[in-house]
Amino acid sequence: MIWPLLTAFVFAGVHGAAAASAGPSGCVSFDINWNLLAFGFNGKDYNVGTQDTWTSSSALTEITTQGRPPFDSTNTTCFLSQFTNAIYVLNADSANPSSIFIYDATAKSWSTQSVVTGTFDPTNFATILDHDTNVFYAYSNGNIFSLDMALLKSANATAIPWQDVQSPDLSANPSATPTPGANTQGYQPVMALAQNHVHFLGVPGLPAGSAKIFVIHFSFMQPTPQSYGNFPTTHGKTASFFLDEGVQQEFAFIPDDGSATYVINVETNTTKTLTGPPQQDSLASYYASTSALVQLTSSGQVAFLAYDPKATTSGGTWSTISKLPTSTTSSSSAPGTSATSANPSGTSGAIPSSSVPKDTSGNSSNSTTKGNSAGVKMAGHSVVGAALAFVLTVVGVMTL
Ligand SMILES: *[C@@H]1O[C@H](CO)[C@@H](O)[C@H](O)[C@H]1NC(C)=O
Ligand SMILES: *[C@@H]1O[C@H](CO)[C@@H](O)[C@H](O)[C@H]1NC(C)=O
Ligand SMILES: *[C@@H]1O[C@H](CO)[C@@H](O)[C@H](O)[C@H]1NC(C)=O
Ligand SMILES: *[C@@H]1O[C@H](CO)[C@@H](O)[C@H](O)[C@H]1NC(C)=O
Ligand SMILES: *[C@@H]1O[C@H](CO)[C@@H](O)[C@H](O)[C@H]1NC(C)=O
Repeated sequence: MIWPLLTAFVFAGVHGAAAASAGPSGCVSFDINWNLLAFGFNGKDYNVGTQDTWTSSSALTEITTQGRPPFDSTNTTCFLSQFTNAIYVLNADSANPSSIFIYDATAKSWSTQSVVTGTFDPTNFATILDHDTNVFYAYSNGNIFSLDMALLKSANATAIPWQDVQSPDLSANPSATPTPGANTQGYQPVMALAQNHVHFLGVPGLPAGSAKIFVIHFSFMQPTPQSYGNFPTTHGKTASFFLDEGVQQEFAFIPDDGSATYVINVETNTTKTLTGPPQQDSLASYYASTSALVQLTSSGQVAFLAYDPKATTSGGTWSTISKLPTSTTSSSSAPGTSATSANPSGTSGAIPSSSVPKDTSGNSSNSTTKGNSAGVKMAGHSVVGAALAFVLTVVGVMTL
């Protein structure tokens, strides 16, 4: 029984590297003083400090505390609510996929906000948190939804509804009368926030460098695409650069192929082309402060690109933040129960480095052959767990 299982895991793992299906189960964000917050890193949460300390040898501050989500899901995302100094965490609990976890960065405490999903699908969406209204706008299955976080920095006992806003017309060529749902078929949403506008990128048929704009304050989809310069019409990820006060005016767009980092300025309607991220990972997540773009890969590594809105015009150098432990690797393709029961710390989904099998020489295994031999030397559940952990490690290494 063990061998077929191992084979299945190794097969799934190796092939998963080429066709991975899920983003990170941890996330990175900031507090209002631009300390980098890293959640769900090997079962722990950290305050990494301000940007000047990220690559120094100064210690990490652990902020793991009760009430945190298990970070055992996939595609986890975090959003800073700048008015409240709270971080809203989505997709962080596989048992409660729609719950929004709130980290109060001032009180350093967690609470769980329940929501009413309605027709919103919490397993298939993209979203932004609007700066001024503190309302989430999301796109899921051809519809725009909103969820009002009011000024919450701890959960309200009343569940908050995802409201169906509209079925947008994403036509590249506008007609006089909008057609709800036009050009939404098969669209994989790429949403970016700046100047109270939601920018939809990668919409099929849009000219390069263009976005469809949803104006939040008027709940209005502009018929004519806006041109911002030069970036490809393709799927990718985004992150808005904060300002110390007021709405974001620029956002980064990283196409799935990681070939470049585009910074789009919605005031000047121009785009800068910066260096692409160190790991070309279409499932990576991104977040930005006032002066850095941070990448968290699906294999759990963090890197950043310093960015000065006034001085940076092109290029730039990414640096790895190596003092953070590797974030939990997403494990959606593996049997969740095995992963949980095999984990000695009991932190669901986390993979302590101590459980990664070593080969006989004491090296961390990095080939399937070694993994199999490491696995069969153990017994029972731990074989499954070790093999799983190992396969995930292999996937991590292979996606580097
Ligand atoms: C995670 O994101 C990937 C890529 O967008 C998607 O294919 C997958 O269905 C998502 N999984 C969940 C559980 O949301
Ligand atoms: C909690 O939600 C209720 C119902 O929506 C609302 O009346 C109340 O003001 C909210 N409380 C806070 C602190 O936001
Ligand atoms: C940017 O484009 C918009 C819409 O076309 C226009 O109203 C605005 O004046 C442009 N801004 C600049 C600085 O050219
Ligand atoms: C681990 O593997 C590397 C590369 O194969 C090798 O150079 C090193 O000596 C090995 N370490 C041990 C402890 O065997
Ligand atoms: C990992 O695998 C590569 C390719 O098979 C090999 O060259 C390298 O020595 C291995 N490293 C370790 C640490 O086992």
